[in-house]
Amino acid sequence: MKNQYALVVGGTGMLKDVCHWLIQQEYHVYVIGRNKTKLKKLKQDTRQPESLHGISVDYQNSACLSNELSNLFKKNGIPNIVVSWIHSTAPKALPLIKDMISKQDLSTNWQLIHIQGSARFFGKENTPVPENCLYKRVYLGFILENNHSRWLTHNEISSGVIHAITSDNNETIIGTLEPWNLRPQ
Ligand SMILES: NC(=O)c1ccc[n+]([C@@H]2O[C@H](COP(=O)([O-])OP(=O)(O)OC[C@H]3O[C@@H](n4cnc5c(N)ncnc54)[C@H](OP(=O)(O)O)[C@@H]3O)[C@@H](O)[C@H]2O)c1
Repeated sequence: MKNQYALVVGGTGMLKDVCHWLIQQEYHVYVIGRNKTKLKKLKQDTRQPESLHGISVDYQNSACLSNELSNLFKKNGIPNIVVSWIHSTAPKALPLIKDMISKQDLSTNWQLIHIQGSARFFGKENTPVPENCLYKRVYLGFILENNHSRWLTHNEISSGVIHAITSDNNETIIGTLEPWNLRPQ
């Protein structure tokens, strides 16, 4: 049987702790980012560097992304979990990932954790997924404390994403999104 593995798209920034946690849960973790130094540092920082695999690719480049995913899926099958933090500058990246997984395997269950910025909450989009995909959406909110508000820390973001992975909820808001007019400016 193949090892269980996770694909974390955009995993070298605020999602670093999610990568470390997935490794503790005995996943092999494949991380997409452009900067090789950041990928190398993430590998060095984990207790089991052999479980962390960097994929240096620009997800805005569909041909290169497709090539990397094709090699990955050929070698390992489809991921058990995909954690996606993809900027809006790359609208084709997540559909490409979903399509390629579907072409590879429509029977093995997998989980998609789709992280989105706060503004996306108010223009909710429909994200179609294949039947074998458990879809969970995570919105990044803000924190209201005393008389001021602030954006989330990396630690809060990673903890919220880990909570989304382990909970049964289809939608998670990390922090709050209301009242929207009190968000940090
Ligand atoms: N509501 C909130 O509180 C909220 C919401 C959003 C963001 N934030 C904060 O804002 C900070 C900056 O946001 P950020 O989006 O830069 O987050 P980040 O998680 O720190 O960095 C983005 C991640 O995506 C990768 N990436 C970016 N563009 C890519 C591309 N074209 N191809 C492949 N990988 C790519 C980056 O690696 P490479 O650069 O190496 O490619 C990195 O791994 C965050 O650290 C977070 O603290 C807060």
